[in-house]
Amino acid sequence: MKFGTWVALIGLFAGVISYAQTDGKIVIDTTKKVTSVSPNLYGLMTEEINYSYDGGIYAEMVANRTLRKGWDGYQHWSYVTRGDSKMTVEHVKDGPSTALPSSIALHITSASAGNEAGLANEGYWGMAVRPLTVYQGSFYAKGIAGDARVALVSNETGSVVAHADVPISGAAWRQYHFSMKTDGDFAPSDGNHLEITFAQPANVQLQLVSLFPPTYHDRPNGNRPDLMKMLTEMKPHFLRLPGGNYLEGDHIKERFNWKETIGPLVDRPTHQGPWNYQSMDGMGLLEFLEWCEDLNIEPLLAVYAGYSLTGEQVTGKDLDPYIQDTLDEIEYVTGDTSTMWGAVRARDGHPTPFPLHYVEIGNEDGLGKGKKSYDERFSRIAEAIRSKYPGRFKLIATTPVAKGSPDLIDDHYYLSPDEFFAMDKKYDAYDRKGPKIFIGEWATRTGSPTPNFGAALGDAAWMTSMERNSDLIEMASYAPLFTNVNPGAMQWPTDLIGYTADKAYGSPSYWAQVLFAQHLGDHTVESKAEGVSSRFFWSATVTTQKKLLHLKLVNASDMPQGLTLDIKGAKAGAVAVLSLHAPTRFATNTIDRPHQIEPVTTKMPLAKEATKHVVPANTIEVLDIPLF
Ligand code: AHR
Repeated sequence: MKFGTWVALIGLFAGVISYAQTDGKIVIDTTKKVTSVSPNLYGLMTEEINYSYDGGIYAEMVANRTLRKGWDGYQHWSYVTRGDSKMTVEHVKDGPSTALPSSIALHITSASAGNEAGLANEGYWGMAVRPLTVYQGSFYAKGIAGDARVALVSNETGSVVAHADVPISGAAWRQYHFSMKTDGDFAPSDGNHLEITFAQPANVQLQLVSLFPPTYHDRPNGNRPDLMKMLTEMKPHFLRLPGGNYLEGDHIKERFNWKETIGPLVDRPTHQGPWNYQSMDGMGLLEFLEWCEDLNIEPLLAVYAGYSLTGEQVTGKDLDPYIQDTLDEIEYVTGDTSTMWGAVRARDGHPTPFPLHYVEIGNEDGLGKGKKSYDERFSRIAEAIRSKYPGRFKLIATTPVAKGSPDLIDDHYYLSPDEFFAMDKKYDAYDRKGPKIFIGEWATRTGSPTPNFGAALGDAAWMTSMERNSDLIEMASYAPLFTNVNPGAMQWPTDLIGYTADKAYGSPSYWAQVLFAQHLGDHTVESKAEGVSSRFFWSATVTTQKKLLHLKLVNASDMPQGLTLDIKGAKAGAVAVLSLHAPTRFATNTIDRPHQIEPVTTKMPLAKEATKHVVPANTIEVLDIPLF
């Protein structure tokens, strides 16, 4: 027999094995409610990691806009010296504010039309530029300079795609605003940079150079519309902010010090984040809250609890100012304009208080050296919040505590698909008398930069478990949410949504979340499965008002799962089936092939009595079944 024939026969045999089907049964009684499903179950968790804000959802196009000088110069900036122009550059200790006390000084001794000198900014792995679009910018400057030409320039051709001339004059610092519009005859791309040049001799200092494209809801200092739209699809109910490790910082002085992230950008000093880069803090406390407002969701405010990642911590009397910071922060979020911090929020442009029901105290305090002091830190912060705002907030502890009676405990899980499959029953037998559970970070971690289909199967299995236990699990948020997929941008592999400056895509896990969150009832109903594989998972929730059963079927095995669906209370007829499937667990979406794995909608007939149905191998399905 020829080699090729053997290969064909082996393939056929393998096909027979992998397509063999196990037969099982699902029995559901939609008239029997088991538990209620939390209305806040699915939410979002973010932090400044993987260039999630700078170079991510925060739409600023200029990288290192505050011209921070490192050992290797001004990162993301370069000098422009066209033709025989002459320029020297100096870093000077004179800036437009106390927060930004330095600037770059350009001494241009020779320049003319065609021989310009100045600066260029490469953006966060390029700058996305689209036709017929207005870009709004500003910078701070002082000096004798005449006109500055600000231009968006194609990296490939050098052609100017938009420009503005900004006259600079005066010995005092001033903010200059400009806007520039692209024309219609070029293809959108992220292969562009920004230039600020002078066609005449000049002595000028520059600081805080900013450029924004149109933003979601046209918010000044706002977010990227494409990423915000992707988040709306996830139907979230809350945003856990500002992080994770990003809340704590490596050192106390590098925590998310919210008071240094509010007000005009020029008054924000920026800070070193724990993920090895400087945060510009354009995404400050108010911007986080406005992000929630734009998605019509609530913040879940995580407050600094006196512990940072290298083990630095504060206890005893030293904790008092941090407790006060927390009370001030809550007042900034919720206080009316007659309160001190509510008035500051109004000054910052948002007189209306934000809704807030959940406050989390710290992050992962069960890990590291802070474990011993967390009882004290949690209980004192909790007591201060409760005595100023009796009964108003649900307080979340990041690990079980002996003192302080948290309303919820935040459990985190970063696991493999098999570990999640094995966790399926963990919360079924959990103590219902203690605090509720918040799964504030969770993800199945296979695939990089974004999860592959194997991860989506782990996620979907886990979501069936969370839905079944949602009387206990009040809230859950996948993490991390974002990664910029350019080389060097990511610190944490396996992130839900990937992007560059001009494109974005959802991973298979993203689509699993969209499916689960868009089809979630208000209570679970009695259901059982018989004869299904150990890699088969399901959830049955009902939306009372719509009289709709959302049946989620997850076949994480590589064999099809035959089923008899026996559903009491279901109407016979055509039923919508949303299906997310991939040929293998390694299959995935990428920035260049973003649509490989996406939900597909079909219809199936549901019989009056039992209905035969096959869930293909490696498949997540949602059936929306009308009820009597
Ligand atoms: O999500 C990434 C990190 O994982 C978070 O910052 C931290 O809370 C957790 O350890």
